[in-house]
Amino acid sequence: MKALLVDNSGDNPVMVIGEHPDPEPADKELLVKIEATALNRADLLQKTGKYPPPVGESPILGLEMAGVVESVGDGVTKFEKGDPVFGLLGGGGYAEYCTIHEDLAMPMPEAFSFEEAAAIPEVFLTAFQAVIWLAELDEGETILIHAGASGVGTAAIQLAELLRNARIAVTAGSDEKLELCRSLGARLLINYKRQNHSDIIEAELGKNSVNVIIDFVGSPYWHDNLKVMAMDSRLVYLAMLGGATVENMSIVPILRKRLTIKGSTLRNRNTAYKARLTKEFYSNTINLFKNVKLSPVIDSVYDWKDVEKAHSRMENNQNAGKIVLNGM
Ligand SMILES: NC(=O)c1ccc[n+]([C@@H]2O[C@H](COP(=O)([O-])OP(=O)(O)OC[C@H]3O[C@@H](n4cnc5c(N)ncnc54)[C@H](OP(=O)(O)O)[C@@H]3O)[C@@H](O)[C@H]2O)c1
Repeated sequence: MKALLVDNSGDNPVMVIGEHPDPEPADKELLVKIEATALNRADLLQKTGKYPPPVGESPILGLEMAGVVESVGDGVTKFEKGDPVFGLLGGGGYAEYCTIHEDLAMPMPEAFSFEEAAAIPEVFLTAFQAVIWLAELDEGETILIHAGASGVGTAAIQLAELLRNARIAVTAGSDEKLELCRSLGARLLINYKRQNHSDIIEAELGKNSVNVIIDFVGSPYWHDNLKVMAMDSRLVYLAMLGGATVENMSIVPILRKRLTIKGSTLRNRNTAYKARLTKEFYSNTINLFKNVKLSPVIDSVYDWKDVEKAHSRMENNQNAGKIVLNGM
């Protein structure tokens, strides 16, 4: 089959379309003809050799896809040839074909395009896991979502609004991105390039007012995060885009406010965990997607031949929502 492969022959790694052996479905797996995939920050790291795929996963980039079942392994009971599906991959999305365990594949609603479906799995499953499972956001609580216009951020805003009727504050780096967050349900908009988030939150929502924080930025926000957190509040780290080392860190607020601080990565969870997450996510959200109450936010769609342009858009923080690839 054809696949996007990393060419390391020049000064910088670049993606080129090349030949790769066809994947073969194991007992409980589907072989899927991919129609669309979507970018994730992990792809940029993997391309430069900084984020090797977990053992046993495809070496090809790509953590999600939408496509049509081409054939099924002997033990498959839930799908058959011709079914349109979408789902999370441990790797292998930047290719014509991939394999996926049947418990990780979700049936695609008729009204979805492949591009829309491919934009859902990684960011919505990550956001669902972070907001609902890890942070246990409760009805009507206040949540602060950093990088609100990121793919995961746009999913987290919608889930917090629709599943928990939460009061939502966000940070983002431009007024256009904040406006997008507002349209999805965010109520307190903070431009972190001009404003300090703890000042705005204390002025608008009061001291110690945030029950849940979803953070992708890391050390630059540590002190401000702890300042605004309420008693028994929860902070979930999903990335450290701004740095990982915190200076002058004190555990006093962690004890005094009884804080829970968690970190998580989805890609290296085992199949059983991802299957439970996929099942609970699907049953809680599929009708909301069908009624267009929940929607993937698509920043742009590129033919997979133009993947380098797509990567550069993400690298430069220009996207708001998902960048999709099709044409494979
Ligand atoms: N742990 C997990 O399981 C998991 C799963 C999926 C994704 N992730 C991670 O979560 C992060 C978001 O993923 P995504 O696909 O949603 O990303 P994305 O759509 O590419 O958005 C990332 C956004 O973060 C903001 N940003 C970047 N560097 C920043 C900095 N130093 N300070 C403040 N904001 C910064 C930028 O928006 P502004 O213009 O607003 O600055 C950028 O557009 C990535 O790091 C990704 O690797 C983790």
